[in-house]
Amino acid sequence: MIYVDIKKRIIELTKQINQANYDYHTLDQPKISDQSYDKLLKELVELENAYPEYQFEDSPTQKIGGVILSSFQKVKHQIPMMSLSNVFDENELRSFDERIKKVVSTFSYITELKIDGLAVSLLYEKGLFVRAATRGNGSIGEDVTHNVKTIKSLPLKLNEPIDIEVRGEIYMPHKSFKMLNEERLNEGETLFANPRNAAAGTIRQLDSKVVSKRNLDLFVYTIVNQSNYADTQEKALEYLSKLGFKVNSNYQKVFGIESLIETINQYDIIRKRLPYDTDGVVIKVNEFSLYEEIGFTAKFPKWATAYKFQAERVETILKDITFQVGRTGVITPVAELEPVLISGSMVARATLHNEDYIKHKDIRIHDTVLVHKAGEIIPEVIEVVLNKRTHQEPFVMIDKCPICQGEVVRKEGEADHYCVNPDCPGKSMYGLIHFSSRQAMDIDTLGEKIVETLHDLGYLNKISDIYHLKEYKEALKDLPGFGDKKIYTLLKAIEESKKQNFDRLIFGLGIKHVGSKVAKTLTKHYPTIDKLMHANLEDLQSIPEIGPMIAQSVVAYFKNESNLVLIHELINLGLNMNSEQEEVIDSPFTNKIIVLTGKLEHFSRDEVTELLEKYGAKVTSSVSSKTDLVIYGEEAGSKLTKANELKIKVMDEKAFKETIDGLH
Ligand code: IVH
Repeated sequence: MIYVDIKKRIIELTKQINQANYDYHTLDQPKISDQSYDKLLKELVELENAYPEYQFEDSPTQKIGGVILSSFQKVKHQIPMMSLSNVFDENELRSFDERIKKVVSTFSYITELKIDGLAVSLLYEKGLFVRAATRGNGSIGEDVTHNVKTIKSLPLKLNEPIDIEVRGEIYMPHKSFKMLNEERLNEGETLFANPRNAAAGTIRQLDSKVVSKRNLDLFVYTIVNQSNYADTQEKALEYLSKLGFKVNSNYQKVFGIESLIETINQYDIIRKRLPYDTDGVVIKVNEFSLYEEIGFTAKFPKWATAYKFQAERVETILKDITFQVGRTGVITPVAELEPVLISGSMVARATLHNEDYIKHKDIRIHDTVLVHKAGEIIPEVIEVVLNKRTHQEPFVMIDKCPICQGEVVRKEGEADHYCVNPDCPGKSMYGLIHFSSRQAMDIDTLGEKIVETLHDLGYLNKISDIYHLKEYKEALKDLPGFGDKKIYTLLKAIEESKKQNFDRLIFGLGIKHVGSKVAKTLTKHYPTIDKLMHANLEDLQSIPEIGPMIAQSVVAYFKNESNLVLIHELINLGLNMNSEQEEVIDSPFTNKIIVLTGKLEHFSRDEVTELLEKYGAKVTSSVSSKTDLVIYGEEAGSKLTKANELKIKVMDEKAFKETIDGLH
């Protein structure tokens, strides 16, 4: 492809992908398959890498993230970001309506869902996205442009080249929230309490790649200086949609208080089926011309209010506060409740998060408490019903581990307490469950319950004990439910797990911050235990996916004496401590950096890549001075041009096939 064609192709791809993003993320109506989308995006990434001068401001590749900041810049809001007054029942809503009717007589309302996330202000110049800022204290917020850019439904370019500032709500859909917390659980990190906290925590991440993976989303609901663009909120919402923003479609125009009340009751039904959290209905006078007359207080506009839904919250008794010791030693207080039915399931336990949470809400054992499900998922104690309190004692955080009685510490700047005893059996029990779990060593007959039983009996304390369990074969027969067959399958599964992949073993060890993906990366770079144990901080951090936190955690793990003892025991027991490496066959491709381009007739891309890797080549996606060879098929484009420009060796498919055939 010649230079002009490349620019054209980049423009075309940018347009096609932006349209696909809009169809998928804003309209919820995808028109092309995921594979076609991935193919287009891959092509664009490659072209932009090769020709960065043609990367456009609205390039969808910006959604992938990649900017790492050390802090956020402050942003002054030219027009302050106000909040809303609240009403909690029909009477308060009627009073709100009366107050407005005292000032104006003919008007309508627009009702919108109140999305439970965090407010953001988005600035566009000549139709191009330039800045996103959080609300902060209302007058000064933080510049979160790089993070907001990763939100797929955010238009980087509007359908009109106008200057405009709009505001909306960033939120985390239930699905993303669930996935994020599952991942955090796997990595031994504390969980986010609800989708709003998760969204707020994510938007303040300094690494936009992390943000990009967390799948935040955005609804836009307001135009700053709205009367310059429309005369009613209804038209403003229509205009926002037309510009390309994702606008929540559940808005309604309503006349009079009776219809308003009816509409709100309907919202309380539909909101339960939505895949994101809402905490009320925002009611706004529709006609902008009336806003001045109705006026503002120091904090809120008087022409709008938020009707807050009663989340399904249920009263029950807090029977006790117990403490759970996690795999990393983190101690989580847990509310033991008189069982109650909440949003369709029985709840007997709820998280109390940490010491600060309990103290802030002054939660005490024997209190009557209100419980709900955060994000419709996690049971949580929200508050104490104070008028039902009798003579309860204030909560005191434990200073000894509930399992090993060892020292408990709270690290500076953290809300969590940790048991610092490396041999704490509490930690070890969760460690054992983790080790044998499906994602780790996958010893499927050694489930949670059995580990608990065998741990309580003292047969399992540390990971290596699993492989000594066969010595207790006779004793196991005395346990209820342990027949010959069960013991045989259990011991067989344990023995077979010795052959399990090396990365699963590394994940199974429960090194802090080493999830299954990180374990795969580590074992790819350090294919034997010996190499991994001796990796230093610098080496580890030179791997793109490994940041300082993971690197430090890995080094610390292999410095710890009892961990080293464990590793040697596992080596002696015969566990696989090697990434299976295919033997490299010597060939003209060995140790070469190779790029594929164009349509191949005889092979799929994956087949060629696999073949080349078998012969010890590295296949990369873009051509640079480091490339040794470009293999090309029909309709080869910019990569072949660039290879020729850089005088890199090229080979057509026919020659490639002949060479390969000659090697077999
Ligand atoms: S309008 C003058 N509309 O609720 C304030 N706010 O308590 C104009 N929110 O800070 C806000 N959904 O973060 C508006 N459809 C919606 C909303 C909404 C959620 C949030 C927003 C605001 C807070 C007010």
